[in-house]
Amino acid sequence: MIEARRDPIADFAIEQYWSEYSEGEHATWRLLFERQQRLLAKRACREYLDGLVGLGVAADGIPDFRHLSDVLDNATGWRIVAVPGLVPDDVFFTYLARRRFPSTCFIRRREQLDYLQEPDIFHDICGHVPLLMNPVFADYMQAYGEGGLKALGLGHLDRLARLYWYTVEFGLIATQEGLRVYGSGILSSAGESVYCLEDPKPQRLCFDLRRVMRTRYRIDDFQQTYFVINDFQQLFDATRPDFAPIYREIASLTDIEPEALIDEDREFDPGGAGEKNGPQVDRGPSLGRKRLEDVR
Ligand code: PHE
Ligand code: FE
Repeated sequence: MIEARRDPIADFAIEQYWSEYSEGEHATWRLLFERQQRLLAKRACREYLDGLVGLGVAADGIPDFRHLSDVLDNATGWRIVAVPGLVPDDVFFTYLARRRFPSTCFIRRREQLDYLQEPDIFHDICGHVPLLMNPVFADYMQAYGEGGLKALGLGHLDRLARLYWYTVEFGLIATQEGLRVYGSGILSSAGESVYCLEDPKPQRLCFDLRRVMRTRYRIDDFQQTYFVINDFQQLFDATRPDFAPIYREIASLTDIEPEALIDEDREFDPGGAGEKNGPQVDRGPSLGRKRLEDVR
């Protein structure tokens, strides 16, 4: 008989044990969910809101991954795998490349409603999974996983990590109704979902692959710079080419600080396209809260 080789990533998967969540943990979910629903109705992009509805993720309580995976699998072939926390890079990329989304199971404590540096189930499920219902975004995430394995081999992971940070985690998208959020680090954060759109402080630049790959980022505060895409197809097309020559090309260029502006930058013009019918941008004083809810 052929010996079954163990899959390296299988070692990281755990059980969710859904029936063991306490009433208090479900109540924390409800609090977070209801608050974000209120904030995101007019701030999240349509694809995200549709994904949330399609998945059936709701305020009732922490969802059961078995059920979510079946719905998601039906839509785009992705499934959720429970993991204990951040997993090693190669494991993370391998999951994505196989259309598996690794999600934590624990939910933040009451004192951490606004601030958490590591991902929890609310960030992973409510922040990331709804967009995996969208076919173009679902393909982007798989391609990112494959690109991650390649970048690891080439020694350019830091450059690729910036792309993830400024798109998957903190991306903004221009829509007919105005600027909207698609980055999950924003979607799961009450403070940043308002700040990123309405605060005059951060820069909002048009997405540019090389610029993003050169830009450092902060994990302990709201972002200083956001990159705006026009639609997911643009993101998918811009990231389709082989990155190997691009890594070599930018290896000779300096990094750009999170708050810096360079000559070639194109600032996103809120007066353009559909913004006219959109909500008024609040030009009031900076919200300035030093809080980052969560990362990856
Ligand atoms: N085209 C990238 C490469 O060659 C792969 C990739 C796709 C990376 C999408 C990120 C996002 O490495
Ligand atoms: Fe995340």
